[in-house]
Amino acid sequence: MKSTPKNLAWLNLPNLPMPLKALFAGYLLVIGVGLCMAGLQILLTHGMADGKVGLSLDDVVYSYYGDRNGTTIESKLNGSMKGNAPAEVRNEIIKWARQGAPEAKWDTQFKDVFAKNCVMCHSTVPGIPDFTKYTEVQKRAVVDKGASVQSLTRVSHIHLFGISFIFFFMSFIFSFAVGVPRKWKILVIAFPFGFLIMDVLSWWLTKLNPGFAWFTIIGGIGYSLASTFMWVTSMYQMFILSRNGKVYGNAWEADL
Ligand code: HEC
Repeated sequence: MKSTPKNLAWLNLPNLPMPLKALFAGYLLVIGVGLCMAGLQILLTHGMADGKVGLSLDDVVYSYYGDRNGTTIESKLNGSMKGNAPAEVRNEIIKWARQGAPEAKWDTQFKDVFAKNCVMCHSTVPGIPDFTKYTEVQKRAVVDKGASVQSLTRVSHIHLFGISFIFFFMSFIFSFAVGVPRKWKILVIAFPFGFLIMDVLSWWLTKLNPGFAWFTIIGGIGYSLASTFMWVTSMYQMFILSRNGKVYGNAWEADL
C-alpha cells in the first residue's frame, strides 16, 4: 500500500487519483461538446434573425424586442416587393395591414387588389404564401413584437436551472486548481453565475427596450470566457501539469 501524504496533499487537480480524473474529464468533455453545440444553435437560430449570417446586436433586438417598424407585408412592400405594385396600391395595403388587416375589408376591397397585383406569383410559386387566402395575408399583417412572455418564462427557467448546474460542477472541479491566486479563483468561479443572471435578465429588458441588447452580448461573452478558462485550466492541470510528478498539496487548504 502507498503511504498517504498528510493533510490530503493529493487533493488538487494534478495529483488527484486517476478514477476521479476520469470522472472529471468525462464530465468536462461532454460539457465541452455541449457548449459548442449551444454556440452553433445560437448562430443558426438567433444569428439568422436579422436575415444575415453571424450574431449581431440586431439579432438580439429582433429576437427579443421584435421588428416593430411594421408588419411583414409593410417591410416587404417597401423592400423586395416594391416593384410589384404602384405606390398608391402599396400605401393602401400598408394602411390596411397596419390596422391588423381587418377581414371586413377583404371581400369588398383587398381580395381584388391582391388578385390584380400579387396572386400571379402568390398562389402559383411554391414556397411563398398563397394570397388568394385571407388567413395567409392576415398572418403577415401583425407587428412582430419579439419573444412572448410565455416563451421568455419557459426559456428563462430552463436556462437558470440547467446552466447553473453546468457551472456548479465545472467550478467545483476548478476549485481544486493549483497556482491560481485565491482572489482570481473566487472571481472566476463567481463570474459565470453573475453573467448568467445578467444574460437572462437582459432578454426581459430587451423586450422592453432594445437598448439592453448589449447586456445579452456582454453576458454571453462573459460566461463563455470564464467557463473556457476553467475548462482549459482544469484539463491542463489534470493531464499535463501532473506529469512532472510534483506533489502540490491540498488545494482547498491553500485557499483558506
Ligand atoms: C413576380 C412575382 C411576385 C409578385 C407579383 C408578388 N410577389 Fe411577393 N414574393 C415573391 C417571392 C418570390 C417572394 C419570396 C422572396 C422574398 O421574400 O422576397 C415573395 C415574398 C413576399 C412576402 C413575404 C412572405 C413571407 O412570409 O416571407 C410578402 C409579405 C409578399 N411577398 C407580399 C406581396 C404583395 C403584397 C404583393 C402584391 C402587391 C406581392 N408580394 C407580389 C414574388 C412575388
